[in-house]
Amino acid sequence: MKTTTTTVVYWAFASLQSLAAALTVAEINGNKFISPYSGQAVTNVTGLLIAKGPKGVWIRSTTPDDDKATSEAIYVFGNKVGASLTVGDIISLDGKVSEYRSNANYIYLTQITSPANVNVLSSGNTVTPLVIGKDTLPPPTVQYTSLDGGDVYNLPNAAANVSDANPVLDPTQYGLDFWESLSGELVTVKQPRAIKAPNKYGDTWVIGDWAVTGSNKHGGLTMSDKDSNPEVITIGAPLDGTKNPTTSKMSDQFEDITGVVQQTFGFYAILPLTAIKVTTPASAAAPPTTLTSQGKCNGLTIGSYNVENLAPTSAHLPKVAAHIVDYLKTPDLMFIQEIQDDSGPTDDGVVTGNATLTALVGAIKSASGVAYAFAEVEPVSDADGGQPGGNIRAAYLYRPEVVSLYKPNQGGATDATDVVPDQGKGKGKGKGKGKGKGKGLGGAPSLSFNPGRIDPANAAWKNSRKPLAAAWTAKGAERPFYTVNVHWSSKGGGTSLHGDVRPPVNGAVNARMAQANVTGSFIAKILALDPDANVIAAGDFNEFSFVQPMKTFSAISKMVDLDEAINAPVEERYTYAYDMNAQALDHMYVSPRLANSKSSRFEHIHANTWAAFDEVVSDHDPSIAQLDVCGR
Ligand SMILES: *[C@@H]1O[C@H](CO)[C@@H](O)[C@H](O)[C@H]1NC(C)=O
Ligand SMILES: *[C@@H]1O[C@H](CO)[C@@H](O)[C@H](O)[C@H]1NC(C)=O
Ligand SMILES: *[C@@H]1O[C@H](CO)[C@@H](O)[C@H](O)[C@H]1NC(C)=O
Ligand SMILES: *[C@@H]1O[C@H](CO)[C@@H](O)[C@H](O)[C@H]1NC(C)=O
Repeated sequence: MKTTTTTVVYWAFASLQSLAAALTVAEINGNKFISPYSGQAVTNVTGLLIAKGPKGVWIRSTTPDDDKATSEAIYVFGNKVGASLTVGDIISLDGKVSEYRSNANYIYLTQITSPANVNVLSSGNTVTPLVIGKDTLPPPTVQYTSLDGGDVYNLPNAAANVSDANPVLDPTQYGLDFWESLSGELVTVKQPRAIKAPNKYGDTWVIGDWAVTGSNKHGGLTMSDKDSNPEVITIGAPLDGTKNPTTSKMSDQFEDITGVVQQTFGFYAILPLTAIKVTTPASAAAPPTTLTSQGKCNGLTIGSYNVENLAPTSAHLPKVAAHIVDYLKTPDLMFIQEIQDDSGPTDDGVVTGNATLTALVGAIKSASGVAYAFAEVEPVSDADGGQPGGNIRAAYLYRPEVVSLYKPNQGGATDATDVVPDQGKGKGKGKGKGKGKGKGLGGAPSLSFNPGRIDPANAAWKNSRKPLAAAWTAKGAERPFYTVNVHWSSKGGGTSLHGDVRPPVNGAVNARMAQANVTGSFIAKILALDPDANVIAAGDFNEFSFVQPMKTFSAISKMVDLDEAINAPVEERYTYAYDMNAQALDHMYVSPRLANSKSSRFEHIHANTWAAFDEVVSDHDPSIAQLDVCGR
């Protein structure tokens, strides 16, 4: 370890500082995110070697303080530093305190770089990991940092940075502060449980035996208003070069995990000493819906499913069909999102989704005998975002023996459908047929294009999917009902809940705010003409019900989150698993009449969030409602 040059440099430097006492690890870390000694040389730092990794070692102070905010451990970065050291050695070394990150959106890792003059003071010392929640504080379960103002979804986003504000750590209150206060420590997670399937590298989000909030019945953690689960930690790459399994899934139990806490790739993680092992796998067999269609207006079943870039040749097409048959029991009406054009992602100007929908409907028919009809509006090529060339769009599948379009009048890509007051006289039951000019069903509004897109020229829809509106009649109903199938802009371009930027950037939130306004205003027109109308807006809103775009949508439209209307347990409201959270990006919002109806039902079917990585059919779960749309 002692090269001539570093020794010379060291002694030249040390002589200037010879009166300064050696710093402890806790002093180097300080009680904030950024070290007070960042960029400075340190000498004779002493610690117990608690773990070795491929590019460095972790040491723990032999002279700890009693401040919970200062980590007693630190990473020593250096390719060769571990070569002649053994876990259990007490060492002293010189080096430089550095703050490292590979991306401006990440929180920094405090480390000692350029280690030199490494001396082994003694060997064979006992190394005992800290059991999280027993030898440490319990992880905070609600808030991430004081810089979020109480809510990681507060607007404006990106009002502060952890690295600039550098707050004093409060590991009793804030999750990021808690994990930072253990940076470099060797810890044990007792009774770990997977929160979701890992990514393809085997990085696995877990909780231990500590108290948590948001547990759903299956064993994941569901986010809720102002609680996005900072108590979950990801298990990263094992230090011994082994690989974590990629086949685990939500709620699998693991052997106890021991590893070091490290800020890595933008997340606080535990790097385990060796690959984690599943002890008790959870069941991925989500129960199918309990809802069965009544075949007429008093008990319509209405499903919604983002089928993730479905093209006619997609390998997952038969599996999507099987989900609609087996999990959803072939609902009367399906809101589908992410139907691609007939040539899939090939960017060739093809926009029709006829072949895609025909293939899906055919696969459902062969699996169940149920023959769906479909409705879509072809988009303008390359104008609606998503996978380049795929031209994803929203579409409906419907069972024509139960529901049919009310006064159908196929819209085109640039046609803006509008809400039209009934032209008919009196309250008669004249059945409007043909091109929308006939008499309506007793004074009910109709749509100028049915199906038709909502305000497709509005700037709110730049590079995004225009909502697909439709009016329908159900068997036995006296009035039409109305649907809006949405797929708002995705959160792409956002920053993570563990990131430096606070509150984190909720990607495209401004686009969704505008989209909430346009979608909500359209629905408000229907309800202005008929406050008791049955209206259903469903699909992939790409937003959580407690975040501003959904509140705006609800305020403008008077539509009610169906989960809220039926008082579904908050923990069971999820259709997606992302990082540390089970969460609901997909919703069904209904008009006041349906929200107040005692017969309304709603279920999220966890066909994908419970599945192992290789078994996932779509990144979203489907949902299904049962609604009585007979009266007004
Ligand atoms: C380095 O620190 C150790 C105790 O941690 C002490 O015994 C030793 O004298 C120190 N060496 C120097 C050169 O300051
Ligand atoms: C936060 O950091 C980013 C990246 O370094 C920077 O662009 C931005 O201006 C910072 N924001 C604030 C509020 O300091
Ligand atoms: C859709 O495809 C089917 C089957 O290939 C065909 O019969 C039908 O005419 C097509 N419809 C449109 C609108 O292109
Ligand atoms: C909705 O859009 C209209 C028209 O652009 C605008 O006047 C109104 O302020 C917006 N409302 C909200 C809540 O954003």
